[in-house]
Amino acid sequence: MTKRPIIIDCDPGQDDAIALLLAMSSPDELDILGITAVAGNVPLELTARNSCQIRDIGARDDIPVFAGCAQPMQRDLVTAEYVHGVTGIDGIDIVEPKLPLEEMHAVDFIIETLHAADDDSVTIVPIGPLTNIGTAIKRDPAILTKVREIVIMGGAMREGGNRTPSAEFNIIVDPHAADIVFRCGRPITVMGLDVTYQVLATPQRIDRIRDLDNEAARATAGMLEFYSRHDSVKFASVGAPLHDPCTIAYLLQPELFQGKQCNISIETSSELTMGHTAVDFWHTTDFPKNAMWMHAVDADGFYELLTERLSRFGDG
Ligand code: RIB
Ligand code: CA
Repeated sequence: MTKRPIIIDCDPGQDDAIALLLAMSSPDELDILGITAVAGNVPLELTARNSCQIRDIGARDDIPVFAGCAQPMQRDLVTAEYVHGVTGIDGIDIVEPKLPLEEMHAVDFIIETLHAADDDSVTIVPIGPLTNIGTAIKRDPAILTKVREIVIMGGAMREGGNRTPSAEFNIIVDPHAADIVFRCGRPITVMGLDVTYQVLATPQRIDRIRDLDNEAARATAGMLEFYSRHDSVKFASVGAPLHDPCTIAYLLQPELFQGKQCNISIETSSELTMGHTAVDFWHTTDFPKNAMWMHAVDADGFYELLTERLSRFGDG
C-alpha cells in the first residue's frame, strides 16, 4: 500500500487531538510529514504545546511539530475556551511535552515541504482556522501544484453556524484565509457541521473507547467526556459532535462519507454573515464547483474505525 503524505494543521482542541491520534494510529496508510499548529480554539502558545503533548500520547517522536500564525490574517483572534477549557484539551492531565517544537515557522515548513514534494502529492488537512494555509498560499502560490487535496473541517450549510448564526468557528476566525484557500483551484473536500453533527460521542461510544484501556484510549475518553458537556447541553444532544476526526476517517475509509461537488464561497464583507460558507448545493449559479461538500456519514462505521484504530496503541 502506498502511504499518503499529509500535513495536519490544527488548533488542539480535544477533537483535533483525537484526529491526531487517529492519524498517528495509521502509519501504514498515512505518512504524517508534520503537524502545524495555528491559533484558534486557544491561543497559539497552547495549541502548539498541546500538539506536542498529543504527539507523545501517540508515541510518534518521528513527527515534527511547528508553531504557525498567532493571529488571523486581518481579523482579531477569537478563541473557544468555553468549549475546550482554558488549556484547550481539558479532560486530560497537562504534562510537559518530551520534545520541543521545531524552530522553523509552520508556514515556512509548509512552503519548503511542498516545494520539495512531487506534483499533486501532498494532502493538507486543516482542522482549525485556515490562517497558516492561506498565508502559505498567498506568500508562495507556486506550492499549489504540489497539493493533491485539501481536506478541511469547517463550514456549515443546513446546520447553520456554531459561532454565529451564519458561520462555523474555523471559517469565521479567519474568513480571509478561508477565502484564499477556497479559491486556490486545488481539489478540496469539506467536512462541515452538516456531517460532523451526525457523529455524536455518546456515552456508549465513549465507554467502548475507555474500555480499550491504553493511554491513547483513556486520553480520548477523558477529553470526550469534558468536550461533550458543552455541546450536549447546547444542542440537547446525547454526546458532542466529533468534528475534526472526520477528515482523517475520510482519508482512511472514504466510503463512510457521501458528498456533492459544489461551489463554496466565503463571506468576507458583511459583519452579520462574516465567515458564512455559501454552499451552492443545488447549482443555482454558474460558479466553479470548487469543493466536495460532505453531507452524510455512516456514524457507526466512523466509531468502529476510531475505536479499532485506538486499540492499536500500546499502553505508553
Ligand atoms: O467548529 C468546529 C471546529 O472548530 C473544530 O475544528 C474545533 O476544533 C474548532 O477548531
Ligand atoms: Ca480544530
